[in-house]
Amino acid sequence: MGLKHLLLTATAALAAPISLLTSTSTGAFTFTLPSSNATYYSPLAHIHTFSSPSFPTSPLPLTVFKTPSKLITASLLSSLSASYTSQDDVWNPSFLPGGALAISCPEDAVFDSSAADWFVKSGVKHLLHSGGIDTSTLSKSSINVLLQDPKWNLKPGLYTISFTAEGVVQIREVYRLYRDSYEAFLFGTTPVPGTKAMRYEAVEIFIPGTQDVWVPVPSRLYALGDERPLAGVRVGLKDIYDLEGTVTGGGSRSYAEVYGVVGETAVSVKRLVELGAVMVGKTKTSQFAHGADPWQFVDVHYPWNPRGDGYLTAASSSSGSAAAIAAYEWLDITIGSDTRGSVRKPAALVGSYGIRPTWGSMDLSGVIPLATEMDTAGFFARDPELFVKISKLWFEDAPVPVNKTFAAFPTKIIYPLDYFPVKNPAAQAIFDGFIATLETELGMVRTLVNLSATIAATVSNPILKNSTAFQLSSNRLAEYVSYNQVGIPLSKTWNAAFPGTGAPPLDPNPRNAFRRSVNLTEDDYQTAVTLKNEFRDFFLTNVLRPDEKTCSDGIMVLDMGTGGLPSYREQALNSLPGATALSVTVPGGGPNMPSNYLASTAGCPQVGIPVGQVSYVSEISGQEEMLPINVDLVAAPGCDGMLLALVEKLAEIGVARGVKVGRRAF
Ligand SMILES: *[C@@H]1O[C@H](CO)[C@@H](O)[C@H](O)[C@H]1NC(C)=O
Ligand SMILES: *[C@@H]1O[C@H](CO)[C@@H](O)[C@H](O)[C@H]1NC(C)=O
Ligand SMILES: *[C@@H]1O[C@H](CO)[C@@H](O)[C@H](O)[C@H]1NC(C)=O
Ligand SMILES: *[C@@H]1O[C@H](CO)[C@@H](O)[C@H](O)[C@H]1NC(C)=O
Ligand SMILES: *[C@@H]1O[C@H](CO)[C@@H](O)[C@H](O)[C@H]1NC(C)=O
Repeated sequence: MGLKHLLLTATAALAAPISLLTSTSTGAFTFTLPSSNATYYSPLAHIHTFSSPSFPTSPLPLTVFKTPSKLITASLLSSLSASYTSQDDVWNPSFLPGGALAISCPEDAVFDSSAADWFVKSGVKHLLHSGGIDTSTLSKSSINVLLQDPKWNLKPGLYTISFTAEGVVQIREVYRLYRDSYEAFLFGTTPVPGTKAMRYEAVEIFIPGTQDVWVPVPSRLYALGDERPLAGVRVGLKDIYDLEGTVTGGGSRSYAEVYGVVGETAVSVKRLVELGAVMVGKTKTSQFAHGADPWQFVDVHYPWNPRGDGYLTAASSSSGSAAAIAAYEWLDITIGSDTRGSVRKPAALVGSYGIRPTWGSMDLSGVIPLATEMDTAGFFARDPELFVKISKLWFEDAPVPVNKTFAAFPTKIIYPLDYFPVKNPAAQAIFDGFIATLETELGMVRTLVNLSATIAATVSNPILKNSTAFQLSSNRLAEYVSYNQVGIPLSKTWNAAFPGTGAPPLDPNPRNAFRRSVNLTEDDYQTAVTLKNEFRDFFLTNVLRPDEKTCSDGIMVLDMGTGGLPSYREQALNSLPGATALSVTVPGGGPNMPSNYLASTAGCPQVGIPVGQVSYVSEISGQEEMLPINVDLVAAPGCDGMLLALVEKLAEIGVARGVKVGRRAF
């Protein structure tokens, strides 16, 4: 992916407490502690410097404690240490012995003698203080006390400190490296200090002998006292979003090769960074976000869905983001995009929360487009509270309303007979149980709707009554935009860069789509837009109507998964009894479209809520495994706020719960 994974010089172990593993020619390095297997990364750029004589040249860990207290005692230090340990997976007290400690406290604070004993007992070798602190009680200890810049304002947490030949002490941030064993990421990223964290750099380092990407996560402690609402939230970013200083590949080696590092972060991502979130790496996507099965990923190896036997599909295109959120406790949310299901389907297949917001709710500049008329920015989360919080913050100030007022929840649960019951009765029981809960807890009522019959009775346009024809027209929306905005410019740039090599190599789906698109005209495209809008108008007039009092006159319930049957990443397994292809055919084969098209075509918001799991006997492990079940809820455009309020309500009554990482969501 255009990434230079530098193979680095393994250097000899340094003096305790840290062992240097590798360092780049530029000076970034990784290290471990003798007492743990964790690996840490200290990027090149320093965040703070000061001059000080007599400091060791080799890097040492620096712990920063922060307290408003004016009296520093052993018990205060112990409780800070315990509280930091419980909040963070990066810092722990084993960084203290032989290392440096800085205490950020009021300038007139004093240490008592118990504090001096605590420093000695915990093995701290260097104490940094900012001039105002009375250090007289430390005079008898063996601790090297360094005076440094009183203007410093380091966040609490873990750093490295080293002394340059020029007599300057440099302090750099430390990230813990987690191994991406599910191959969900393309590369890890760290913010470049001093760029308001809008510029990032790829982590071009790995431990010799391994293939997996290393993902750097910042200390949770860096966010302490940071007032920004998403301070320290760790985010995986789909590889169609631009992140200044890194490559956007769109899942394509050719695209990454010719465009290289991008110069500006996408507006939608800037918004998250301004709120305090930290991008920890780029996640895999199907090429240019086109639909693709796992075996159709050619340039990029398809990520591993951790659920069940670990051999199930996670759909596309946001499969890297979905796999990552279901796999890694150390990751908070992952960004995807949803054109015709690319957040909702992967969310259902990995059992995570997922949202497709009202169409138009995000400025998507700096994001590789697919079908402008249907593209949305969405994300995945394991925790319902965080899911609601981020949805509110990210889509706030949207160009279109996403939080229309409502006085009460709708009472109608729209249950489309076209898609229910799902194939696995155990999964259907989960849907029925969820609906029963909405009925008993919130006074809602299940209303049966036959969408095909409603279409047949209401619309006159024959293409809207013919799901094959409608799908072809819907595909045109994506193919025209993708070909004109991605395919043609890529070909031109590629040919200029590599004359005589013909067309850039592409994965089968975009390649075929681009070939089909050569004769598409602007008129063909407008015809497809008109048809899409005709369906939208039908849907919002006859099925899911906007409502003054409840925002949406009903909430439609849908399955975005596979009806509770396993769908494997290996194609041949999906025709075996008990398994299924990813695209479940519509029961009855009526004049209806795949259920994931509804919200996309009508511009509706949709949320996926993990509510349960069903068992299957795996063709891979030969034993019983569990696969997750999401209930998806759709409302009229602008009712995102109402759906999120419903998720909050469901969390309150224990129906929407957090999901676990790994083989089982629950
Ligand atoms: C390090 O890894 C080994 C082998 O996986 C394990 O036995 C050991 O407990 C680990 N040590 C720590 C401190 O986590
Ligand atoms: C829905 O309507 C279609 C066409 O009008 C009909 O063929 C189908 O049987 C109906 N489905 C159900 C479950 O009633
Ligand atoms: C539905 O559309 C497809 C594709 O355009 C076409 O081949 C088929 O004949 C149509 N079916 C009907 C019943 O009109
Ligand atoms: C595009 O138009 C040309 C000229 O009419 C024709 O030869 C070619 O087959 C068409 N290609 C596609 C993919 O429709
Ligand atoms: C919608 O607005 C209400 C009232 O201002 C607020 O409480 C709620 O958090 C908002 N929801 C979203 C999704 O922004």
